[in-house]
Amino acid sequence: MFELKLLLFLLLTYTPDVLAAPSQVPIQVPETNAKRKLQGRFLHITDMHPDPYFKEDASETSACHRRKPKKARPRSGYYGMPYRLNGGNSDCDSPMTLTNFTLDYLDKQWSKEIDFVVCEHDNDRKNPRTTNEIYMLNRAMARRMEDVFLSKGIPVIPSIGIITQNIMLPGPNGVTSEFSSIWRNFVPFESYQVFQRGGYFSVEVIPAQLAVISLNTMYFYDSNKAVGGCEDGDPEDPGNLQFDWLEVQLDRFRSRGMQVWLSGHVPPSADNFFPDCHVRYTELSLRYQDTILGHLYGHMNADHFFFLDADHVRSTRNRNVSTSGEPHFGKKKRRALYNTLLKTFDDLPKPKHNGSYDDYGVVNVSPSVVPNPYLPSFRIFTYNTTGSAYVPALGPGRGSCADAGGQEKDALRCDVAKPWHASPDAPSRTNRLWTPLGYAQYYLPDLESANKKHAPKVKLEYLTFARDALHPQPGEGEGARHPIPLRHLPKTLRNATGEGGAKYLPYGLADLTIGSWAGLGRRLAGGTEKALRRRFRGYMYMGGEGA
Ligand SMILES: *[C@@H]1O[C@H](CO)[C@@H](O)[C@H](O)[C@H]1NC(C)=O
Ligand SMILES: *[C@@H]1O[C@H](CO)[C@@H](O)[C@H](O)[C@H]1NC(C)=O
Ligand SMILES: *[C@@H]1O[C@H](CO)[C@@H](O)[C@H](O)[C@H]1NC(C)=O
Ligand SMILES: *[C@@H]1O[C@H](CO)[C@@H](O)[C@H](O)[C@H]1NC(C)=O
Ligand SMILES: *[C@@H]1O[C@H](CO)[C@@H](O)[C@H](O)[C@H]1NC(C)=O
Repeated sequence: MFELKLLLFLLLTYTPDVLAAPSQVPIQVPETNAKRKLQGRFLHITDMHPDPYFKEDASETSACHRRKPKKARPRSGYYGMPYRLNGGNSDCDSPMTLTNFTLDYLDKQWSKEIDFVVCEHDNDRKNPRTTNEIYMLNRAMARRMEDVFLSKGIPVIPSIGIITQNIMLPGPNGVTSEFSSIWRNFVPFESYQVFQRGGYFSVEVIPAQLAVISLNTMYFYDSNKAVGGCEDGDPEDPGNLQFDWLEVQLDRFRSRGMQVWLSGHVPPSADNFFPDCHVRYTELSLRYQDTILGHLYGHMNADHFFFLDADHVRSTRNRNVSTSGEPHFGKKKRRALYNTLLKTFDDLPKPKHNGSYDDYGVVNVSPSVVPNPYLPSFRIFTYNTTGSAYVPALGPGRGSCADAGGQEKDALRCDVAKPWHASPDAPSRTNRLWTPLGYAQYYLPDLESANKKHAPKVKLEYLTFARDALHPQPGEGEGARHPIPLRHLPKTLRNATGEGGAKYLPYGLADLTIGSWAGLGRRLAGGTEKALRRRFRGYMYMGGEGA
């Protein structure tokens, strides 16, 4: 088992003039960087599972590696083993044709429209290979990413996924040194040493303004039996070292008035992370809520979102997990995921408490490219490039023990006794510069009818936007941008005054702030919007298992 995740980020030289950014800050610019104009979009792809041994017309029992037994059904197609509504999981990974098709498509159709790409490609999970083969495959994928994105000025920011046998020892080790070599062109020089040791790094995708942090979740993932799992009192634990580093990063970015995306492979849920790692992740994420735009993860192969919640951390600290309502996201429990999510959404602050989302963060988990068990898909995020910048209040921060006032909610803050940087004015809470505004989710629903002569068709699955947000508002002027280029929208949505296409607009979210996600969570939990629930559940499983 060996997965790796690539985050590709376009390095931008364009600086919105509304910003008074410090110009003396050293700029991390890959040599390939070209001057590009900011588009206000980025791409997120997860879990590509390329398999160079994939054969067309092969049996599923052979993991699509052999044409025998001849009578076995189903048979693999030119673009992969088709997804089957009632067929459960497939043992096949993606053929290179599908990986190539997807990258070619993104190259031709999207590379001019996006500012950066969050992209993950995994190797096969079920068919053991030699380490050398795995590295060769990763190297080939990395070179392809360089061709498609880096060569056009789009930096590539990979993050480490699942490692063979789920074992990753503290670094530096063979794995980190191999990735250091494969990803040499993606990791900024300043981060190189840290990366060689821990497999994590950060890149300023818009110098001095916007950064992306790529985490190595292998040191947090509770299946990795080679590490202690952020145990209290073990400063040498690689998970603790990573969090120490992350805290320094967040603090530095915050003091420079920057915003960051956190990204990684295994999502930071109680079921995936060691308990102490989960506590530290949640604590840090909430303490730097005013600096973090969001959390981008993959691994689960199920489209969903969930909340980081201070209450849950407190419960976990007291080893009282069962009453915490924390969702459990284990792959085996994927069928139950929908129900546990709805339960946690039900605990969200009621509308009358709308004012304070200080205790929440939102994790977005994207579905995968591999049709196993779901359909290939990718996500285009749009973000605000024109608003006014958030300037964090530098100083001690709120929420120390002194002003906790004995409130139960504040126990966590008191516990950590460190500054709590949350603000309703931050881009994660209010639509302004760098705030994520929405996303469009695309997929390839008709793989089985595609063949050598007929390429699969990429289709829009859904948008988080409301209809009127898809078109520039009157008075926005000529430079106003469509959040999603019109040619990438179905015809029914291209007309600013038209009415069709409601099926693509299930959520109607004004933006992707924490409050907007909480609003959607509450609507889903509320139970009065049956159709909304059906849609959400359908997207989670793409109509398949558990839907
Ligand atoms: C995939 O693309 C690479 C690079 O363009 C090419 O060398 C390879 O032959 C392609 N493989 C398939 C199966 O199309
Ligand atoms: C867990 O929390 C609940 C509610 O706060 C409490 O009633 C219960 O006694 C706790 N259990 C343990 C084992 O601490
Ligand atoms: C960007 O943020 C500003 C506020 O700073 C807001 O006026 C503007 O409408 C936002 N842009 C979009 C496209 O939502
Ligand atoms: C857009 O929709 C409106 C209202 O349905 C219709 O009158 C108009 O002709 C449409 N415009 C185009 C270009 O299709
Ligand atoms: C709470 O926030 C959501 C999302 O911003 C919004 O839709 C809702 O109207 C708000 N409710 C109140 C009572 O302010």
